[in-house]
Amino acid sequence: MRIAVCPGSFDPVTKGHLDIVTRASKLFDRVIVLVVINAAKTPSFTPEERVRMIREVIGDSLPNVEVDTFSGLLADYVRDAGAVAIVKGLRAVSDFEYEFQMALANKKLNPLADTVFLTTASQNMYLSSSLVKQIAQFGGDISDFLPPQIVDKVAGRLCSQR
Ligand code: COA
Repeated sequence: MRIAVCPGSFDPVTKGHLDIVTRASKLFDRVIVLVVINAAKTPSFTPEERVRMIREVIGDSLPNVEVDTFSGLLADYVRDAGAVAIVKGLRAVSDFEYEFQMALANKKLNPLADTVFLTTASQNMYLSSSLVKQIAQFGGDISDFLPPQIVDKVAGRLCSQR
């Protein structure tokens, strides 16, 4: 059983994340999408809301994918889960330095797991959760960026925060 963890803030989950998770589910026996607290960010949705949104989006479509949340060191979660890989999407060269640093640190903390980078699909190269939130805050159309199941929820929440 080869387990992979797809970590992120997922605030909220986008079509770009979904693409990475879907492709990871074909490469590994079991994939855990992990909503992790990133102390450097101020989220718009609680971890529980983010987990619920991801579960709603995935539904029954990816039977080997589950969703969890965790506050702490990613390397510790990965070790406890018995995972062999951390899967991340690389969008652009600008992501590389930060991702490289995290991959090396995670490898040092848990030598049993490797970080695997999947190239983000070209249509999602420019996408980020913050970008989607910014568009939603000003009433822009976010339906191209988010899975349809959560568009209204995200638009409603962000619009009301203006
Ligand atoms: N498509 C679209 N957008 C994508 C994407 C893709 N394939 N891949 C990443 N993004 C976006 C994300 O939505 C995020 O957008 P945002 O900055 O607007 O929120 C941005 O790219 C950065 O993503 P990422 O680098 O994965 O950051 P993150 O905040 O989602 O996740 C953690 C970072 C949570 C995995 C990391 O902080 C962590 O592991 N924290 C736990 C503590 C720990 O162990 N720290 C030590 C690490 S060595």
